[in-house]
Amino acid sequence: MDKNLTWHTSSITKYQRAKLKNQKPCVLWLTGLSGSGKSTLANALEKRLFELGFHTYLLDGDNIRHGLNKDLGFDETSRVENIRRIGEVCKLFVDAGIIVIGAFISPFKKEREMVRELFEKGEFVEIFVDTPLEICEKRDPKGLYKKARSGEIKNFTGIDSPYEKPEAPEVHIISEKLEENVGMIMGILTKREYSV
Ligand code: ADX
Repeated sequence: MDKNLTWHTSSITKYQRAKLKNQKPCVLWLTGLSGSGKSTLANALEKRLFELGFHTYLLDGDNIRHGLNKDLGFDETSRVENIRRIGEVCKLFVDAGIIVIGAFISPFKKEREMVRELFEKGEFVEIFVDTPLEICEKRDPKGLYKKARSGEIKNFTGIDSPYEKPEAPEVHIISEKLEENVGMIMGILTKREYSV
């Protein structure tokens, strides 16, 4: 970091912004293999929160890689940088008082922990969408597993690039029932008083 930089503190705080929105900001971080159902769940979750009057924003791996992170690939260094930048973006959104939903493979434990460390206790909620590789590969919604198996794509998570499972996620999703899964996450939010 440049030593000539100064941090400017704004007079309106995170708590004031959040209070105006009548909510506690947080990050609902969905991690799991490609095709595990992260984006579908993230969408359904945002819809439910929105309908209840919460101020949300959805960040999705595929979308972020079309813009902010379009210069990044899928080698280990790029994936680490991908998650680092996303973590910082999530932090800005939380500072703005928003409930952020993130859907990223985020395959490395260390990077997920690094993002968690950016937040206050309880603000980062790790949700493991634990769909087995065989099912993801069978679904293959974008035809990417087929390409990875044939060698057309390199460094594909679960095939020739690792996925490190979360050991103690706040939410562990194993069911394929969408509404049930949304309900489970909403339950955690209510318990932790993210809603007011
Ligand atoms: S992450 O590993 O860096 O967290 P991210 O969630 O941003 O991944 O992007 C994953 C999406 O990129 C997948 O859903 C898939 O559509 C696409 N993709 C393209 N190449 C790969 C690859 N080699 N491994 C995993 N996903 C890939």
